[in-house]
Amino acid sequence: MPAAISPRQAAAALTEYWSPRVIGELDDSYLKVAKVLGTFGWHCHDDEDELFVILAGHLRIELETGAVELGEGELFVVPRGVRHNPVAAAECLVLLIERKSTLHTGSEVTARTRSIAQQLGGVDPADAPVQG
Ligand code: NI
Repeated sequence: MPAAISPRQAAAALTEYWSPRVIGELDDSYLKVAKVLGTFGWHCHDDEDELFVILAGHLRIELETGAVELGEGELFVVPRGVRHNPVAAAECLVLLIERKSTLHTGSEVTARTRSIAQQLGGVDPADAPVQG
């Protein structure tokens, strides 16, 4: 049964910061939502681009060449191989599109690292329930 997905509602329903949840698939990529607050930490994805879409709030993505300030409805693609550090001064809801092989903390393994199984929440993304 086809049904619309509200990424903003799915992100708002999350209870843990910086813990992405898969809400769908697009070819070889996952669609993920996250609720973020504070500083994530510097990392890099050597072989994958990473798309950030701001659903609510404001996100600053620090890059070694400067910082990008993103407001609601804006997006930014972090190119592969570019070190970045997402920072949210206040709670922010984000949609991420990342290749399935992407590790969200990149080559760093930190307290924030979540496995794909954790991001899938134990369900097939095609059947993932969306709150709301
Ligand atoms: Ni990243």
